[in-house]
Amino acid sequence: MTQDLESSPAPKDGGRFCSCDARSVGKLDPCTLVIFGASGDLTLRKLVPALFRMFSAGSLPHPFTVVGCARSPMNDAEFRRHLRQGLEREADFNGGLWPEFAAHLHYFDVDYDAASFAGLADYLRDLDALRQTGGNRLFHLAVPPSLYGTIGSLLGGAGLSGTGKEGNGWARIVVEKPFGRDLGSAVRLDETLRRHFREDQIFRIDHYLAKETVQNVLMLRFANAIFEPLWNRNFIDHVGILAAESLGIGKRAGYYEESGVIRDMFQNHMLQLLALTAMEPPSHFEAERVRDEKVKVLRSIRPFSFKPDDNLLLGQYGEGKIDGMPVAAYRQEEGVAAGSLTPTFALMRLFVDNWRWKGVPFYLVSGKRMKSKVTRIVIQFREVPHTLFHNVLDARIIANRLEMGIYPEEDIRLSFQAKEPGPRLCLKTRTMDFRYRDQVGFDPYAKMLLDAMAGDQMLFWRQDAVEASWELLTPILHDCEACRGRATLLHPYPAGSWGPQGAAPWVERIVGAEEGK
Ligand code: BG6
Repeated sequence: MTQDLESSPAPKDGGRFCSCDARSVGKLDPCTLVIFGASGDLTLRKLVPALFRMFSAGSLPHPFTVVGCARSPMNDAEFRRHLRQGLEREADFNGGLWPEFAAHLHYFDVDYDAASFAGLADYLRDLDALRQTGGNRLFHLAVPPSLYGTIGSLLGGAGLSGTGKEGNGWARIVVEKPFGRDLGSAVRLDETLRRHFREDQIFRIDHYLAKETVQNVLMLRFANAIFEPLWNRNFIDHVGILAAESLGIGKRAGYYEESGVIRDMFQNHMLQLLALTAMEPPSHFEAERVRDEKVKVLRSIRPFSFKPDDNLLLGQYGEGKIDGMPVAAYRQEEGVAAGSLTPTFALMRLFVDNWRWKGVPFYLVSGKRMKSKVTRIVIQFREVPHTLFHNVLDARIIANRLEMGIYPEEDIRLSFQAKEPGPRLCLKTRTMDFRYRDQVGFDPYAKMLLDAMAGDQMLFWRQDAVEASWELLTPILHDCEACRGRATLLHPYPAGSWGPQGAAPWVERIVGAEEGK
């Protein structure tokens, strides 16, 4: 007994003990971040603001250099001015730190050919010597996916892939989704990259994985003893994963018309959320072990064919109102074909065929121009097996529910039944809530860049998982796209709603009956 007490020490700080990972703190190698697509939107809106935040927080490596590469001719001063304009739109921009940050930024214009990359190799070598960045390079491909293979090959050809004779320092390559548009193209892309880079040099970004609340799924499940025993088919009725957006496609018609919601959201973010929710505990918290478990889940998802209104429901938004303002139908968006059959909404019912999850449906819902932006994972527990209150209360007692809010609430809510105070016997649903709201989270892009600089692949896709997810989705995409009755399978929904009518009962299960109206 005494021994038991000793082995479970009293919580320090009234139970608010904080245990932190100190592995990478202060250990980042000096490096140069080379951004291809440096004059583009992603660089301006995501990458540079993230870098600036990291710089302001003192978390960038030292020494550190950024080299922006794109086709447009620019000098360093013009490049810096362009980036500053982007940063000025950020609410937390601190102009006082700008001059020091700007001194790290350089520009080199490239054509995507061998001569240009040979010039880049010389330029980087000289800059390394000047800045003492040790030949360590992180190549970030913020370019259209059609250029991934070309850039990978050109880097390899110019001796910049870190696996050739130049061999001083490391080289890593970061790619944004989409990783192909189906299984075949994903495999081909990988083959091209792998001619010059090893798997441990390739960082496939999924920004959902770097969200605090998404990272927290594993902490909640595996750093607490109370949830895991219930986390299975015996206690869970269904799981809902929702990523609803009120935004439309903005200026991305060209990309979106080619991808649609399944490629844009399901192949990556939605399946990652499912994998985190459903995976087995890895033997330890290490990138390969965690990614091994995730890929096992993806491979256990029951393949399904496109049976309309059964396991898959597709929709496309029509005109409607968001926050009281009229918005255009998808087919009226600039750059979208008048008769477009691209789905902007999908609801999928998936089953993970393994011992833990057999028979438990996972409802995945995502769409554009929905009522509001909500990202949430819901674990719906089973009802009590027997209600002893049936003679005094309703026959049914509302089952427990655990919600992991990703947006707008970053929270965890556990709902349960409690007696309403008063002389009558009334049960009421109550919640225990934990909100991240008051704590400043870390910018997901900053987290991903730091991890790539540290060589930590935990939050990045591994190729086997990319292929497993495409293996599941490719036949469905092909069925949907080749189907003659395609137009009738695409259910319209008014912008500002929770999706097509047929989806309502399922969406209600995730957002809650009240909000789901
Ligand atoms: C991107 C998709 O990956 O994720 C976009 O391409 C989508 O279409 C976005 O809007 C959603 O991300 P978040 O972080 O706003 O939920």
